[in-house]
Amino acid sequence: MDKMTLNYPRAPLRGTISVPGDKSISHRAVMFGGIAKGRTTVSGFLPGEDCLRTIECFRLLGADISRNGTELVIESPGIDGWQEPADILYTGNSGTTTRLMLGILAGSRVHSVIAGDESIAKRPMKRVTGPLKQMEADIRGREGAQYTPISVLGGPLSPIDYEMPVASAQVKSAILFAAMRAGGTSVIREKEVSRDHTERMMRNFGMDVQSEDGVITLRGGQELTPVHVDVPGDISSAAFFLAASAMVPDSEVVLKNVGLNPTRTGMIDVLKAMGADFEVDVTDTDDSERRGAVTIRSSSLKGTEIGGDLIPRLIDEIPVIALLATQAEGTTVIRDAEELRVKETDRIAAVAEELGKLGADISPTADGMVIHGPTKLSGAALDSRGDHRIGMMAGIAALVTDGPVELQDPGCIAISYPEFFGHLDSLRGE
Ligand code: S3P
Repeated sequence: MDKMTLNYPRAPLRGTISVPGDKSISHRAVMFGGIAKGRTTVSGFLPGEDCLRTIECFRLLGADISRNGTELVIESPGIDGWQEPADILYTGNSGTTTRLMLGILAGSRVHSVIAGDESIAKRPMKRVTGPLKQMEADIRGREGAQYTPISVLGGPLSPIDYEMPVASAQVKSAILFAAMRAGGTSVIREKEVSRDHTERMMRNFGMDVQSEDGVITLRGGQELTPVHVDVPGDISSAAFFLAASAMVPDSEVVLKNVGLNPTRTGMIDVLKAMGADFEVDVTDTDDSERRGAVTIRSSSLKGTEIGGDLIPRLIDEIPVIALLATQAEGTTVIRDAEELRVKETDRIAAVAEELGKLGADISPTADGMVIHGPTKLSGAALDSRGDHRIGMMAGIAALVTDGPVELQDPGCIAISYPEFFGHLDSLRGE
């Protein structure tokens, strides 16, 4: 479907949604299951296009993966038993698949070539291939391995002591995967802590990884023991309905099974700062991934300032936070978010231009944006630009516009949230 008309009469949102599986954790569950020798099982997996790409990569490497909805069974010969892939490893639109696979493949015993779609071909890869080359990985690619296609000849790796120049869980995780295979102990130093799902899952698979004050230490050569992974819901998907319920008058929505890992809950902090009316009920506090339910009602909202170490904790939520800010009283300033420029699209430009078409008072800056609210938004033709989160931002915006939103390329939303419009309609009482 390349166009959709979103014509939503003004009505409160009501009901309960069980949030689909976390994208970051779903990728990692397949990756650890593919690296570990034996049988790994997964529940709550996100069958979004990005995570399905990761499954396809591991099938080409020789893992036997069966999927029944959100359940997976992974039987793997283990990284030392992988076959050389007979085709390129195609990662589609998925930055996480592309970057993490580079780290995994660097320490394998196979030769492989990685490539994705046209958005992936523009995204910077040197942030990963640079440190991997320091570990003596044999990696080649376009413009000195800055861009895909990239070829990796797996082999022995040296450990690294690496200070992260950007707050990026993808970079950190790629290095950690390589460090698992290095002959010695690696250290990674983060200035701002990024999502730590890789470290947590390493522990679940029986590895010893130390993490304190942004310093992660990992000894190479440890064995992985396959386990069951139960993936919590994705707070980055929940964020769209948190924002919707906060801003559509008279709404009350319950979001169940929301992943509440503290490295991901920046949106909750922002909702609090904006004066949203919500409660968080933590249902599972086990050490691996905390989860719970969030009940949220509409309320009057005020602008806020977002920057510094909060940014990595809500990086994917910024498009919908910007939309929320258009409905809040006062000014919202987002800074220190220059990473948005190198996401699936340049999300600073995309958010400012698309919300601007609806009449929002929003100005892009080099590292963020400034939004003055509240503004009445009017329907217009918007373009997702092939970016799932821009598409969902447009879908939620349509709930508060006067007149319909014509959304170009809504299909990309299936990258992370195939049930998005179904959930939206159920909350609208359709
Ligand atoms: C992700 C890390 C983040 C995030 C992306 C998923 C991950 O990217 O934006 O959606 O699963 O590690 P960066 O690490 O590039 O910030």
